[in-house]
Amino acid sequence: MATNRLLSPSAAFLHPRENNLFLPFFRLHTRQRSQLRRPPSTSRDAVRRGGNLKLAIKKIAPPTNRSPSPEHLKRRTRSGVEFDRELYERYASAGHVPVMFCEVLEAFRIPRLRSFVDCTLGAAGHSSAIIEAHRELELFVGLDVDTLAVDKARTRIEALVSDGFREELKVYTHVRNFKYIKAVLGGVDENLLSEGVDGIFMDLGISSMQVDNLERGFSVLGDGPLDMRMDPQGTLKAEDILNTWPEAEVGRILRDYGEESNWWFLQEKIINARKKGGLHSSRELVDLVRKASGKSGGRLGWIKTATRVFQALRIVVNDELQTLENALYACFDCLSSGGRLAVISFHSLEDRIVKKTFLDIIENEGEDDEEDYTVKRNDKIGTGTQIWSKQRIVGRNGTILTKRPITPCEDEERLNRRCRSAKLRVIQKH
Ligand SMILES: C[S@@+](CC[C@H](N)C(=O)[O-])C[C@H]1O[C@@H](n2cnc3c(N)ncnc32)[C@H](O)[C@@H]1O
Repeated sequence: MATNRLLSPSAAFLHPRENNLFLPFFRLHTRQRSQLRRPPSTSRDAVRRGGNLKLAIKKIAPPTNRSPSPEHLKRRTRSGVEFDRELYERYASAGHVPVMFCEVLEAFRIPRLRSFVDCTLGAAGHSSAIIEAHRELELFVGLDVDTLAVDKARTRIEALVSDGFREELKVYTHVRNFKYIKAVLGGVDENLLSEGVDGIFMDLGISSMQVDNLERGFSVLGDGPLDMRMDPQGTLKAEDILNTWPEAEVGRILRDYGEESNWWFLQEKIINARKKGGLHSSRELVDLVRKASGKSGGRLGWIKTATRVFQALRIVVNDELQTLENALYACFDCLSSGGRLAVISFHSLEDRIVKKTFLDIIENEGEDDEEDYTVKRNDKIGTGTQIWSKQRIVGRNGTILTKRPITPCEDEERLNRRCRSAKLRVIQKH
C-alpha cells in the first residue's frame, strides 16, 4: 500500500494495479430495463421504412437546453447556504474549482471533527477548506488513484499545514482507490477502524486537471489518445473497449452507462470503424458521433451525445459504479458514532447508487422527514443552520441528512458551469 506521511520526504509511493477488466454490474433502473425490452434500432427502422435518418434521430434525441421540470425541481433542494465569494475565489485558484465547498463545510460542521478522510483528493480544494476550518483536526487522510493529483494535493496541504503552524495535525496521503479505505485506515493506525473517523468525503468523477490534460483522453473538445484511465496504472483503456470488445457489449455500455437513446446506431458505426483500423483518438470518436448525429440539435446536440459516449466509456474503464457502491458501505463502516459521510455526484447513475445505498445502509424503518426529530435527538445530530435539518430519513443504523439531494446555489452556478449537475447527499452514523 502506498502510504505517505506528509512532511516526510523519504516516504515512497507505490501504484497499485487495479483489475479494470472486471465488468461493472449494478442493478438496472426501471427505465433501463424498459430500454432493454425496446426494439433496438428506432432510427434504423425508421430509415428502412423509407423515413429520413436525420428526422428519425431527431425524434429520439433528448431535447437540448431543457430547463428543469417542476417535477425534477421537487426532487432536489437548492442549497440555502450563504455563498462566500471570497472563499470561493481563494480555493478556486489551483487548477480545479471545488464544487459546493460551502455546503461541504456545512456538512462537516459537527461539534468536533478530529479525523477526516478525503477519498478523492484531486487538487485538495475541499480538503484545504476543511483543514483550515477545523483547528481541532488531529488526523487527515487523503486518497486519489491519480499520482499527479496526489502530488499536487500533498504540496498544497504541506504548505497549509506549515503556514498554519499545525504540527500536531497528522497528514497521510495515498495513491489508492477509495474502495480500499479500510485497508488504508488500518495501515495508518490499527485502532482507527474500531474507533472510526468523524468525517469522510467523496467528490466523484474527474478533476479539471484531468480533463484539461488532453493526453488523458477525457476531453470531448480536445484531441488526445482514447485513454480515460483515472489511475494511469490501470490496465484497460477506452480504445480497448471501442476496438476489441464484442459488439453487443459496446452497445450495452452506451445504453446503460451513457443513457444514450441512439446507442444501437452508434454501436454499428463504432464496429464499422474497426474495418478501417479502429478508433484511436478522442477527435476520431467525436467525429464519428458528430457524423452519426447529423445536424439535428446543432452543435449542442452532438456535443451532448459525445459527452454521454465519453461518460459511458469512462465509467467502464474505471469501474466507477460498482466501486462506488462497494466503497459507500466500506466508508460507512469506517465512521465513528456521530460521524458523517458526504458524497457529491455528477450524473444520475452515480446519484441513484448513492441514494439507494444510503437507504440500504441506514435500514430505514419508515420514520422519515420529521421536523421534531431535531428536538428529540439534537444532541447527536448537532446544531447550526443546516439546510437539510428538516429533510431527514431516520434508520436503524444512521440518518440520511439529505432526504433530497442538495444542489448548488445560483451564485455558484453562475460562476462555475461545471457545478450545475452536482448533487450532495450526506449520511450520519448513529
Ligand atoms: C472531482 S475530483 C476531486 C476534486 C477535489 N475535491 C478538489 O477540491 O480539488 C475527483 C478526483 O477523484 C479521483 N478519483 C475518482 N475515482 C476514484 C477512486 N475510486 N479512488 C480514488 N480516487 C478517485 C480522481 O482521480 C480525481 O482526482
